[in-house]
Amino acid sequence: SRRAKVAGLGSYVPDQVLTNSDLEELVDTSDEWITQRTGIKERRVVKEDVTASDLGYQAAQKAIENADIDKDKLDLILVATSTPDYVGFPSTACLIQDKLGLPGIPAFDVAAACTGFIYALSVASQYIETGAYDNILVIGSEALSKVIDWEDRGTCVLFGDGAGAAVLTPAQSGGILTNHLGADGSKSDVLKIPGGGSCNPLSQQLLDEGNHYLEMEGSAVFKFAVRILGKAAQNALQQIGLNRDDIDYLIPHQANIRIIDSAAKRLRLDKEQIYVNLDKYGNTSAASIPLALDEAAKKNKIKQGDIVVLVGFGAGLTWGATVLEW
Ligand code: ACO
Repeated sequence: SRRAKVAGLGSYVPDQVLTNSDLEELVDTSDEWITQRTGIKERRVVKEDVTASDLGYQAAQKAIENADIDKDKLDLILVATSTPDYVGFPSTACLIQDKLGLPGIPAFDVAAACTGFIYALSVASQYIETGAYDNILVIGSEALSKVIDWEDRGTCVLFGDGAGAAVLTPAQSGGILTNHLGADGSKSDVLKIPGGGSCNPLSQQLLDEGNHYLEMEGSAVFKFAVRILGKAAQNALQQIGLNRDDIDYLIPHQANIRIIDSAAKRLRLDKEQIYVNLDKYGNTSAASIPLALDEAAKKNKIKQGDIVVLVGFGAGLTWGATVLEW
């Protein structure tokens, strides 16, 4: 049967670095607290006029180059983002399609917060498996610094901006073996941007109250994440008759080193089998998995034939895992 494989990867982060000590100047926090509780040392932030489509476009160009494919051969563009250029429309995927100069091909956004890239990969792999499309560009891109309340120490230390992209093509062998997705909308309150949508439309009062910023119950998300990260990976493996001992390499969503460490324990993985770059970028939401996968691949952490698991969780709540044979 036909499968999809990752033919090329690319990533991009803005130049401006915001360190933990920079944050000490903004809110009542310390490098020690942030490092111990999260593992994050610094993050990247965009300039005022830079958007998610700008970051996604940069990552996409690198992925297309890395795949060594003519961009005119692309059949579809998918963008996972929680910080689209515009609320509602046009989609960020359409804006990136225009920047790439590919009028005509379909383009749409996938909304699953930090799990967005896994959700988008699962959509792309279905199109390739059915034979509907051959070459699909999948992007995760976020300009989270624009929806952060820089006076809220509970959230502003955690997030960063960036983008990652993959070109998927039909596989001769290996490729994406399975995807496992899940959601629990009854927990939609623990992580949200309350204002600006049809529930709380933009108004002066909303802006004055800071309702357009990201809000999070950190410890509720933490408990969920610790439970779901290992479980989602195991559920995905189980779907194809594999188990945790078959994992060669894990690319987890980069939210918090303590969440990753507890998943590693549950999956019985060594440190050398897990890619971590949250110290440099913080949580870049839908960009975090492709950004980590691109770096891991370029550093030759993943070898041909390896069983690689990508696993994420996020607002919604949502979770998902992809199992690939590299
Ligand atoms: N600096 C200093 N102190 C702080 C800071 C800070 N930046 N932030 C919170 N504190 C304080 C709190 O006020 C609290 O003080 P108190 O005990 O006097 O009330 C104390 O530190 C402990 O706070 P907790 O929230 O209990 O700390 P915890 O160990 O849970 O760590 C954290 C907080 C890092 C936010 C953790 O809960 C976490 O990582 N949660 C998951 C977040 C996450 O992954 N979100 C992304 C999901 S993906 C997506 O879709 C976007």
